[in-house]
Amino acid sequence: MTILDGKKLAEKVRNELRNDVKKLDHVGLAVVLVGDDEASRLYVSMKKKACEDVGIESIEVKLPNNINEEMLISEIEKLNLDSKVDGILVQLPLPKHINSAKILSLIDPNKDVDGFHPQNVGLLVTGTETGFIPCTPLGVIKLLEEYNISPKGKNSVIVGASNIVGKPVASLLLNRNSTIDICHIYTQDLKAHTLQADILVVGVGKTDLIRGDMVKDGVVVIDIGINKLSNGKIVGDINFDEVSKKASYITPVPGGVGPMTIAMLLQNTVQSAQNKNKRY
Ligand code: GUN
Repeated sequence: MTILDGKKLAEKVRNELRNDVKKLDHVGLAVVLVGDDEASRLYVSMKKKACEDVGIESIEVKLPNNINEEMLISEIEKLNLDSKVDGILVQLPLPKHINSAKILSLIDPNKDVDGFHPQNVGLLVTGTETGFIPCTPLGVIKLLEEYNISPKGKNSVIVGASNIVGKPVASLLLNRNSTIDICHIYTQDLKAHTLQADILVVGVGKTDLIRGDMVKDGVVVIDIGINKLSNGKIVGDINFDEVSKKASYITPVPGGVGPMTIAMLLQNTVQSAQNKNKRY
């Protein structure tokens, strides 16, 4: 069994990006945080630190929980026009009174480093992949590539069908000629599906969702879950002790997909700055 070391690969990517940033006049990422959700605040501070580490200016836009949609839209429009801003990230989830899909569709697609704008989603689904690709799914593909794991002709089972993870991972693997099975909360017999997996990608947020008896020998396992146990320990959705005994490759939590997500955000931001130089 081989550990898919996301921490190590993310470090390598960040070293490369540091050099790319030096060749550019300025790279800026705006992170919009609405409200004071604790997990969101933690993610935003991690993104900010990572930006500073590679020389990207991080522009934090903190807005109150009770902001109305119109005011949030006007903040987005300002960032769309700001030449110092190469990437715009609106931290999700947004408060319930705000229409998230509408907000995401108003970000300039050329600055949409999260890859959530419908134009970028379309470019991914249609297989050209010329727009921005969501960070966690892109990190998953980079990890597979780093370890020479080809999805071509394999059965890939994805558990979780979110717009942020499950659906874009499915598109990326399908574009690489994998056979795709997407499971979700209404899937009747999850184990019947996961037992078919050559590649198993799980991003649900439920501790021990996948046990040892639910996978076959040699499976490649990608765990996107981040769960905090009552003792403070961070674990994924996979029972690591059980599943790692059968897996050929497996991501640890922490140190697997998480660091890759942030590295891909930085990569997309640098890409946006490089594209800007080509556009003007
Ligand atoms: N919330 C959870 N994951 C993400 C992500 O990748 N991007 C944004 N913007 N919000 C998130």
